[in-house]
Amino acid sequence: MPPICSHTNNFYSRLVAHFYDPIMRGVENSFLETKRRQLLQHAHGRILEVGAGTGVNFHLYASQAQVLAVEPSGAMLKYARRRLAQGEAHAHIELLEAGIEDSRVKTAIPESGFDCIVCTLVLCTLPGLEDAIQLFRQWLKPGGQLLVIEHIRDTRQPQRWLQRAITPVWKHLAEGCHLDRPTDELLKAAGFRVVKEAYFHRWVPFYWGIFE
Ligand SMILES: C[S@@+](CC[C@H](N)C(=O)[O-])C[C@H]1O[C@@H](n2cnc3c(N)ncnc32)[C@H](O)[C@@H]1O
Repeated sequence: MPPICSHTNNFYSRLVAHFYDPIMRGVENSFLETKRRQLLQHAHGRILEVGAGTGVNFHLYASQAQVLAVEPSGAMLKYARRRLAQGEAHAHIELLEAGIEDSRVKTAIPESGFDCIVCTLVLCTLPGLEDAIQLFRQWLKPGGQLLVIEHIRDTRQPQRWLQRAITPVWKHLAEGCHLDRPTDELLKAAGFRVVKEAYFHRWVPFYWGIFE
């Protein structure tokens, strides 16, 4: 898998991390927080959260959950740590400053695998998404679930054309985020079985899915 960007602690990354929650607040309030809540009520047992960012999901895990939250950006983690210090989480949450390609993540996988892997707004950013999806399959225990919320490629025109045109610039501004990934299709093509799914939002297409 290609290495993650090494700029995760530079000035720009700190700026992005600082403004991430305020920028997202409108979207969170209008629909995203509800979708997160609906998704994470299915999270149980030993959980890997990939790219936990500022820790926006932490308060949504049940108290019995044991979460390993991996996040390569020290700048994002600063805010995630703050949430934990403020007692926002009910679950046991361990933070690891690492991307999924880091060998420390592999070492931390429970012998029988994770019960759940949570990816919210991170599959748009992971380099080598198809390889990452294969890793998730290996890291889940049999019957384990992958829980996903993601913005995805628009199938309508001219939106699809626009997404493709903007992405080369956007991915630099938004630290690797691709607007035009067919993430739902890639997950299904990789052999994951859909347990439940939903497509939502009129302007930017979003995908919500539970896979086994
Ligand atoms: C758009 S943010 C989403 C944060 C959070 N998951 C949410 O739902 O708001 C994408 C996150 O993915 C992280 N990320 C980027 N490359 C990664 C990698 N290789 N492994 C794990 N996380 C990664 C970024 O540092 C960033 O915090």
